[in-house]
Amino acid sequence: MNQSDVLVLGAGIAGLTCALKLAHQRPDLKINVLTKTHERESNTRYAQGGVAAVWNFETDSYEKHIADTLDAGDGLCDLDIVKIVVKEGPERVREIIEWGARFDKNKEKKYDLGREGGHSENRILHYKDLTGWEIQRTLVEQAHKTDNIEILEHFFAIDLITQHNLGHTITRVTPGIECYGAYALNKNSGEIETLLAKMTVLATGGGGQVYRNTTNPVIATGDGMAMVYRAKGRIENMEFVQFHPTALYNPAGDNPAFLISEAVRGFGGILKSPDGTEFMQKYDKRGSLAPRDIVARAIDREMKLQGAEHMCLDCTHLDKEGFIAHFPTIYEKCKSIGIDPMKDMIPVTPACHYLCGGAKTDEMGRTTVKFLYAAGECTCTGLHGANRLASNSLLEAMVFAHRISIDILEKIDGIKKVKKGIPEWDARGTMQPQELVLITQSMKELKDLMSYYVGIVRSNVRLKRANDRLYLLYKETEELYRETTLSPQLCELRNIITIAYLITRSASMRRESRGLHFTTDFPEKLDFVDLMVL
Ligand code: FAD
Ligand code: SIN
Repeated sequence: MNQSDVLVLGAGIAGLTCALKLAHQRPDLKINVLTKTHERESNTRYAQGGVAAVWNFETDSYEKHIADTLDAGDGLCDLDIVKIVVKEGPERVREIIEWGARFDKNKEKKYDLGREGGHSENRILHYKDLTGWEIQRTLVEQAHKTDNIEILEHFFAIDLITQHNLGHTITRVTPGIECYGAYALNKNSGEIETLLAKMTVLATGGGGQVYRNTTNPVIATGDGMAMVYRAKGRIENMEFVQFHPTALYNPAGDNPAFLISEAVRGFGGILKSPDGTEFMQKYDKRGSLAPRDIVARAIDREMKLQGAEHMCLDCTHLDKEGFIAHFPTIYEKCKSIGIDPMKDMIPVTPACHYLCGGAKTDEMGRTTVKFLYAAGECTCTGLHGANRLASNSLLEAMVFAHRISIDILEKIDGIKKVKKGIPEWDARGTMQPQELVLITQSMKELKDLMSYYVGIVRSNVRLKRANDRLYLLYKETEELYRETTLSPQLCELRNIITIAYLITRSASMRRESRGLHFTTDFPEKLDFVDLMVL
């Protein structure tokens, strides 16, 4: 058994920021940070556009950032949470700059603030088109310099430990569910270890791999949300899946799909049909810079109307030097597949990008399970509502990582020791899997069915089909789980089936179209009174 004061599950922006904040203030605390693969691999690492924060108070204001966030969120944001994130955000950005993160500056030596869809002002701090890479580098380097943080690489968290593991029956209405740490598969040794902690912080990121075409790396399988659901914690807003309008179309089907940042449209890129006709003005007066839900739906619709495999992003009119300086990675990637963005339009298609739903948390990042906090993409804080405003997620992760550290530091000395009698993982009666193909094939089926039936446009019939097929996959996988020695692949399949189920069920329950959820059976938005009845 391994015991720490705080167990952080996840080493992206949310997990590492929280660990650093705790460790810096309390060098006597032992903080373990788990990552299921390499310490630098995370969704964070792939973030391109940047971090949204009110920076230039001559042109921008908290009120404007709040209004843009609420507008994108389409009526479902929690106003208090939006205010917290927007107002505390700039301070958190200053801190990460102090830790060593570089953001681009302009000729006047001021931060070069970019623009993205749904923002009424330029407020995106960025490092070329590699903002996430720079943030991940900074945080990992800081963690290495901090003695009381231990990063456990290739440790795969399987399940949270609660009273359930002490033999108590726990249901969704059981009051006072507590978390005492997690069971994790040490991928180096093949052993399942019991990691006990006074406080656990979930920072396991998103689950974009639930769809066939996604910008999320292969690690994004929604493990944390699925663990909370199994621990009977509350999960919310899973129907709001954000599809990024402009992933690079590649007939070879890259996993993950390469993102063409929204910042490219902020820089002047224009969406067009393959024949060169502009189409966005038909859908929104903000054209190519309308919020993501609108642009992704418009592209999806145009692809269907025109029978096209993709739409295009035209950058051929833009300044070459400026484009390459801002987007060196995008430029190189396009060139590597024979597209010169200065001469050819870039083929783009929507791809699953971000889950707005997740573990329900309060203003201090507390989940509904005692001693369990959550930050980052695995949460539903109330910031995004029905649709996340671009570049608000890195900001949200930092703000809640900070708030969680405050709450933990206030309480941790009052918790004397971790519960006694927690059993080691029991793997008796299981066997090594005979054929891995059973897992890979189920994963493929799951991604296909989610993409066909629970994508950008939904309907009752499609959701029912998805639900029926999911049930079969669920039954088969649970059987495999009971009989087989655990592997990361099997755990990921099990988790992603849970995520798919939660998305499909939440989508079936929302009898309206709002934000990222659009269904042909209920194309209108309900008014507030009807929503309360639901
Ligand atoms: P992650 O960064 O994904 O970290 C998750 C961590 O949890 C990893 O260390 C992983 O190993 C670990 N983990 C997961 N499961 C387990 C398990 N079972 N056991 C142990 N460890 C586990 N947002 C913005 O605000 N601005 C942007 O410009 C932007 N661009 C983006 C571009 C791309 C291509 C993508 C994919 C996302 C982008 N986003 C952007 C979204 C943003 O990057 C993510 O929402 C954010 O980085 C999530 O951070 P996180 O710390 O919650 O999770
Ligand atoms: C992008 O660069 O377009 C992604 C920004 C985000 O997802 O917030």
